[in-house]
Amino acid sequence: MTLHDAPKAKTGGIDARAAMEELNAEAGQYNIWLRTQANAPAQKAWFKPTSVEESGRMAQGRVAGGQMKALPHHWKWKEISPYLLKIADVAKKADIPPTEFADRQQFLLTNPGLGGRLQVAAAIRCAVSIYNPADVARAHLHSPNATRTILSEYGGYTNVEGERCDAMRGDLMLTPNGTWHDHGNDGKEPVMWIDTLDWPLLEFLDCIWLDEEAPGLSGNQRAQNETIPRGYSHRLYGKGGMMPRIAHQRGIGQVTSPFFHFKGVEIKDNLIAMRNDVRDAYEGTPIDFQNPVTGGPLFTTLGYGAQLLKPGEETRFKRETSSTVYVCMHGRGQTEVAGRTFDWEENDIFVVPNFLWRRHINTGKNDAILYTMSDRPLLEKIGQYRTQGMDADGKVEQIVS
Ligand SMILES: [Fe+2]
Repeated sequence: MTLHDAPKAKTGGIDARAAMEELNAEAGQYNIWLRTQANAPAQKAWFKPTSVEESGRMAQGRVAGGQMKALPHHWKWKEISPYLLKIADVAKKADIPPTEFADRQQFLLTNPGLGGRLQVAAAIRCAVSIYNPADVARAHLHSPNATRTILSEYGGYTNVEGERCDAMRGDLMLTPNGTWHDHGNDGKEPVMWIDTLDWPLLEFLDCIWLDEEAPGLSGNQRAQNETIPRGYSHRLYGKGGMMPRIAHQRGIGQVTSPFFHFKGVEIKDNLIAMRNDVRDAYEGTPIDFQNPVTGGPLFTTLGYGAQLLKPGEETRFKRETSSTVYVCMHGRGQTEVAGRTFDWEENDIFVVPNFLWRRHINTGKNDAILYTMSDRPLLEKIGQYRTQGMDADGKVEQIVS
């Protein structure tokens, strides 16, 4: 008998399930549920074979208990970006602009498997923001960790703990939990970037808090003064392997990175420099961005990286217990995930949820560069990170990394 085979009914016995459901009708008032169903996890046992097409099966009935599963999804820049321009246009003509009544001028990405929740995966929120010239998002501080992935060629800034970081395409700017930060655009053109946060995780833990009473700001002042010279964190931490011998704490967060500004041009240059030396059958040329103090991921919850795929390169299938959001920064290509194919180009965003097999193909004539954001650090910390690859013959192997 397997775990969930129904035992043989006793002759003349009552229908226990029906009897218990009847009891449930009245017991519910005491906030209890008499168990009438077996567990039905959506994921298959990790070491059991699963096909590439498999995307998980939802539990049915009461044990599902609001269960939701993120689906693979692709947000095409050419479809979503017009809405940024529309938001910017509305903001220009508004009596009260969205930055006032909605904090930001942005849209949030919603995963079609998550019932309208403002998240793309279990632990990850993504938004795309636009700032018109003269827009300012007031100084604030919060418990979630956040980053900005800059899409515009040039313009806009984020001031973190008094250090102004000027944005260029491909930059990754960190506002770790517990750091005061404000954003704005003092240039002549609108600027756009992707915001990524661990907000859904902290929301699940009921641990979201936010403060907008920045110390030292007077009157109607909304932005922090520049109290730290520009480029400070980059000068101190921007060269891998060399660390100043100083106290590193910035802000009031715990285990947070004091390095706030990864530059897109350096990310690209590093990937190109490594493209022939670093070869991974599942990832092309991958790099991870590090918290220079711990040597670990940028956040305790989310990890960030980038990967280069050479023209024509096809990676092998891989899957992880973590979920990954991808942004195409350069080039074009294809990702196969759970039997679907996403054809991506610059600024496109797509998500590969946990447990699903995926592989990438560079279909363009130039190198393709994808930025990645993943909840792998969280899964590793709780002892739940696993990953598998599939070799050229379809044989599954455990990947140890
Ligand atoms: Fe923020």
